[in-house]
Amino acid sequence: METVLVMDFGGQYSQLIARRVRELRVFSELIPYDTDICEIKKRNPRGLIFSGSPYSVASNKGRAPGVDSRLFSLGIPILGICYGMQLMAKLAGGDITATGSNEYGKTGIDLDLSSPLFKGLKQKETCWMSHRDSVGDLPPGYKVIASTSNLPVAGIEEPDKKFFGIQFHPEVVHTPSGMDILSNFLFDICGCSPTWTMVSIIESETEKIARSVGRGKVICGLSGGVDSSVAALLVHRAVGERLTCIFVDHGLLRKDEARQVTETFRENFRINLIHIDAGDRFIRKLKGICDPEQKRKIIGNEFIRIFEEEASKIKDADCLVQGTLYSDVIESGTRDAARIKSHHNVGGLPEDMKLRLIEPLRLLFKDEIRKLGIELGLSDDIVWRQPFPGPGLAIRIIGEVTAEKIKILQEADNIVLEEVKRAGLYKKIWQSFAILPSIKSVGVMGDERTYAYPIAIRAVTSLDAMTADWVRLPYEVLEKMSVRIINEVEGVNRVVYDISSKPPSTIEWE
Ligand code: XMP
Repeated sequence: METVLVMDFGGQYSQLIARRVRELRVFSELIPYDTDICEIKKRNPRGLIFSGSPYSVASNKGRAPGVDSRLFSLGIPILGICYGMQLMAKLAGGDITATGSNEYGKTGIDLDLSSPLFKGLKQKETCWMSHRDSVGDLPPGYKVIASTSNLPVAGIEEPDKKFFGIQFHPEVVHTPSGMDILSNFLFDICGCSPTWTMVSIIESETEKIARSVGRGKVICGLSGGVDSSVAALLVHRAVGERLTCIFVDHGLLRKDEARQVTETFRENFRINLIHIDAGDRFIRKLKGICDPEQKRKIIGNEFIRIFEEEASKIKDADCLVQGTLYSDVIESGTRDAARIKSHHNVGGLPEDMKLRLIEPLRLLFKDEIRKLGIELGLSDDIVWRQPFPGPGLAIRIIGEVTAEKIKILQEADNIVLEEVKRAGLYKKIWQSFAILPSIKSVGVMGDERTYAYPIAIRAVTSLDAMTADWVRLPYEVLEKMSVRIINEVEGVNRVVYDISSKPPSTIEWE
């Protein structure tokens, strides 16, 4: 597989660079700037891209991240972006000056069109700048290929070695010709071809899984979300009958979700599926429990126990599928250790299960997994399903969880989702759902006093669930939800809308 590696110096757009390269159908991975050179050689990259960084080559002397200078002798093209360009210039003997002021935003730029990096562009373009330092004296062998009215050296090139540096960011949409620049680098300069497509991913992953599993048997914990579903389908293509999916239904799913999952996998894809209907077992365990953390722990433990019980019945199983995503892989080193809530994940199974892990989505971003799901024939319903927490409705029922409350919440939640979909907003919203606070209030229906539960509606937009903003849902949509919930769901006489963002509020109420 032709690969271009992005060396990450901690810049805010590092991930985006790798994504853009992938959008151009060349496989790209983000690797830490200090990755061992042997590791880099093993991947046989066609080219390297150095990312930006919050550090300054000029003023953070000693602390600014560098690279192994042997990278420049690998004989492959390098593109330095922002900090990456300055580092490249510095290591080649150039001079970097701290300008003392920031240049931030859209800027007009003059390009030297004789550079292969700018093939097909106009001499005057617009680009996005975000930097403090600049390259002063050029290193030997380099020439200037771009400049702005403020910045005489906005782009450099070492033509013999095919080293390029640009001070601006081609990966952001504010640089309109950014994708053309990246495309010139990948195809004309590195000699890659656009062959990394969903079909090629399916083929290569299937082959890889088949090789790794050998003649063994595989089990997969299925949650009904897009990640575990796509992972299961890929593994199924590779090992067929030897895959068994285990779907532990804790009875805390959205309305109809369990049926959809079993139908999709058993009937549409003919995959061996064990459906454990454990609703009663979970409700018993949750009886009298009101504390959110306790609920999470009980559900997490019980889930694993049931999964293990079922997995142990499958004789000779030696591999376990996990839906780890590329963003999990990237973030695992840097994730903030502060524990706000203990997350329970279907993937979070104990290590002592002695099963070999198969992680077919390890190199893919979420949107790529969705595309893969579509290519594999997964229904829109599953491909576009909004995220759902492992502990399910238990953390959306405030206070004790009972069968009655689950039923009420499932019905109300279903109405929220139906109306969001009807308004054409489902794919634009990160999550939209209902919450059942365990309080009651007075109402009047048909001349009769009622004393019943309220339902809270929450809808948020987010990029990564780390921060979120509440959605300004149109009043008519809110009205429709409110009227339907009160009329159609027995036990509810009031509807409120949650207008808090994260932080300070989390997305889930518990
Ligand atoms: P919070 O409530 O912390 O949620 O803002 C952030 C995102 O994580 C989801 N979430 C979970 N996902 N297991 C999961 O797999 C969990 O235990 C869990 N708790 C919260 C939540 O739905 C949101 O998308």
